[in-house]
Amino acid sequence: MQKEIFNNNIQNMRNYIMFEIKAKQAELTPMLKEKNRTPIALSMGAPVEKVPEYIIEKAKQYLDFDNLHTYSTPKGENAFIEAVKIRMAKRFNVELNSKNEILSLIGSKEGLSNFIRALVNYTEDESKQDIIWIPAPGYASYTQMIKIAGAYAYGIPLIEEENYMPDLDKVYEKFISEGFNPNRLKALVINYPNNPLGCCCDLEYLQHCVDFCNKHNIVLISDNAYCDMYYDESYKPHSALECNGAKDCCVEFYSLSKTYAMTGWRLGWACGNSTGITMLSRMKSTVDTGIFKVLQYAAADLMKSSEGDVYIDKQNIKFKNKIQKFVDGLNSLGYQIKMPKTTFYLWVKIPERFSDCVEFADKLLEISGVVVVPGVAFDKNATRYVRMSVVASDNDLEEVIKRMKEDGFSFD
Ligand SMILES: Cc1ncc(COP(=O)(O)O)c(C=O)c1O
Repeated sequence: MQKEIFNNNIQNMRNYIMFEIKAKQAELTPMLKEKNRTPIALSMGAPVEKVPEYIIEKAKQYLDFDNLHTYSTPKGENAFIEAVKIRMAKRFNVELNSKNEILSLIGSKEGLSNFIRALVNYTEDESKQDIIWIPAPGYASYTQMIKIAGAYAYGIPLIEEENYMPDLDKVYEKFISEGFNPNRLKALVINYPNNPLGCCCDLEYLQHCVDFCNKHNIVLISDNAYCDMYYDESYKPHSALECNGAKDCCVEFYSLSKTYAMTGWRLGWACGNSTGITMLSRMKSTVDTGIFKVLQYAAADLMKSSEGDVYIDKQNIKFKNKIQKFVDGLNSLGYQIKMPKTTFYLWVKIPERFSDCVEFADKLLEISGVVVVPGVAFDKNATRYVRMSVVASDNDLEEVIKRMKEDGFSFD
């Protein structure tokens, strides 16, 4: 079969970077083991913690129910939808209509990708493509999801001097001055807490995003996958749906992956604007048939339980200590890293002597067995950064610092 018979975008696309890195890690493992440098992955955002015992027990119980083994629906089981409704009200004071404002997802990656496909009109003619603004740096999948949907991703720089909260009116002026037709702008993606920066935003900024989208009649896609990972009450993440007018423009995406260390369970939800939810539901009904009912029922119980809330609090204390220790370790090697306010990501500036982030990441893997992600995966201009996911065990994190010191990866 000729690959040319396939979709042009897919033909020219590489595998998702995290899986490419994983494959490279697997290929080098025998050599690394031989020199006592068994790989330690700080690449994917996948915590290695145990999932809550509570959901394991619940899932075991539900497995014995005869009526939970058939197809679910893309919308999700009522029990799951009601649990989301309760959670959104309790956590953010956001009231949702379970009839048409909530939808189950097979993880938020699936939801974001299908939502974008449902939103834009496919064309390969770049001059006519719909445009979606995305954070730069931002989740590595956004650009590719938008590309395969036949649209164009326009990166908005997130910079420290602006506290990672760019003035969207200024971005719009720049966008126009660069010759883009504003009628092509379809949506704004925001991601606070942000992967890979670990930064967050305040409610006032979310209102700015909502007002901007309503003013320009575009969709606000709020990716809130990390809303439960914070280390200081004063930076507790908000929902964009708390803002005035949010339900006119916003669909927000949630995930159980990071909150409960359940990346493999593939559970999440979308909520917000009813038209957006209806269109996504229509799209999903043609490409999937929902989530295994057992998982939905168990997750619904977890989201409503005090055990789930206790787990989140304990995890945040654990991560705070783990990340702080690792930040201190890196800084003892001459790096100048600040403790992130949210998420488990560190955005690490690389030493001058490396030509770019790809060289640094390659050498760190090949010499020390430490797996990190080059910054260019998140922003094509981020050539001097790598992302480290602080998800390994405490022992492994100590070992990373030791190896970096021994193998010549100190900052200066
Ligand atoms: C910003 C962001 N959004 C969405 C996702 C997707 O998560 P999941 O599909 O596991 O819900 C990730 C995963 O790393 C992410 O970093």
